[in-house]
Amino acid sequence: MTAPAINAERLQQRLEAFARIGATPAGGVNRQALSAEDRAARRLLTELAQARGFSVFQDPIANLFIRRGGHDDSRPPLLIGSHLDSQPTGGRYDGALGTLAAFEALEALQDAGLTSEAPIEVVAWTNEEGSRFAPGVMGSMAFAGAADPATWQSLTGSDGASFAHELAATLAALPEAAPRSLGMPVSGYIELHIEQGPSLEKEGLAVGVVTGVQGTRWLKVTISGEAGHAGTTPLPYRRDPMVAAVGILHQLQASVMPSDADARLTVGRIATIPGSVNAIPKAVSFSLDIRHPSASRLAAIEAEVRAICRDQCERQGCSAEIATAFDMPPGTFAPAMIDIIETAADRLFLSSKKMVSGAFHDALFLSKVAPTAMIFVPCRDGISHNEAEYVEPASVRDGARLLLEATIVAAKELP
Ligand code: GLV
Ligand code: MN
Ligand code: MN
Repeated sequence: MTAPAINAERLQQRLEAFARIGATPAGGVNRQALSAEDRAARRLLTELAQARGFSVFQDPIANLFIRRGGHDDSRPPLLIGSHLDSQPTGGRYDGALGTLAAFEALEALQDAGLTSEAPIEVVAWTNEEGSRFAPGVMGSMAFAGAADPATWQSLTGSDGASFAHELAATLAALPEAAPRSLGMPVSGYIELHIEQGPSLEKEGLAVGVVTGVQGTRWLKVTISGEAGHAGTTPLPYRRDPMVAAVGILHQLQASVMPSDADARLTVGRIATIPGSVNAIPKAVSFSLDIRHPSASRLAAIEAEVRAICRDQCERQGCSAEIATAFDMPPGTFAPAMIDIIETAADRLFLSSKKMVSGAFHDALFLSKVAPTAMIFVPCRDGISHNEAEYVEPASVRDGARLLLEATIVAAKELP
């Protein structure tokens, strides 16, 4: 038996192979949740797993599990992984890195003939991104018992697709994965991910030891006014929801982030109904992605959104409807798992710092049911949710080495 070691070249080749599934002309990936491309990525991972003799399972929300047994198979497995779905114009590393590095860790153990104490399972969670079907982190949320998937069955995707149909088609496309019921005891969860922000690169650090995740709230705001003729309706007769929406967004952009350095506010989607060039719209809707490390500040920002909407709508004779599409409170990870990762980083001489994640991750819901923590590696210029996302091969290797080291310890020490 040799000491298990990451095969960095194999991992790079895997990243490239998966980047070809849903590849975009600009060098990124469009592999949105439960799409044909997502199914192709699941198939490839399953084939790789079967070639190594690992068993493959999927649960009713299509979370995909690859299991390698341990010395004591009665112990709950240690989970390691991330997600395979992407943003519509996403990068090659967001999700794929953590999933494929976890698979590499499993292969490294297999190559070395080392049997872990607890069984280890690689997991690819369903619909982390949430851009095709909201909310995000569906698979981990359902796994942790924080949501009932039945409530999502009637969802329609951003492309008009039926969630129920796409989920059923995804499950059916992988008959070789043995069905498994939703949720199970796990001894812990470790997720490797790119930082998706600039701090590790700027500070010249090899890895981040993630201690928690800031909160996220997604609102869908719909402003209703009165449709009318673009050419014949004079100003006093207009109840134009676009004027109200512009006023709301202008006020929010001038207030939320400028007055609070920890707050984030993003409008990623905006639509008009009916969307005709020469008609005053009947309604305008837009998304708000609000983030903050403090739950009470998140609530205060939502209250500010509601007050501004009320005020601007009143001025224009419009009305506002505000629906919550996703609400993920901030969360903290388990000291025991943070410590395992930090100690392993020191052992590997990887420079590190503790940090809170600005992005949300499946790890947040896993932290509700098992000791959980994350590893971050730097990405170039902090760019992510962008086809230009890039991670240096040395960072890929460092992250995977740390994941393997922490996995071996966690599979031994955690009950
Ligand atoms: C995850 O994709 C996020 O938006 O934080
Ligand atoms: Mn991700
Ligand atoms: Mn993402």
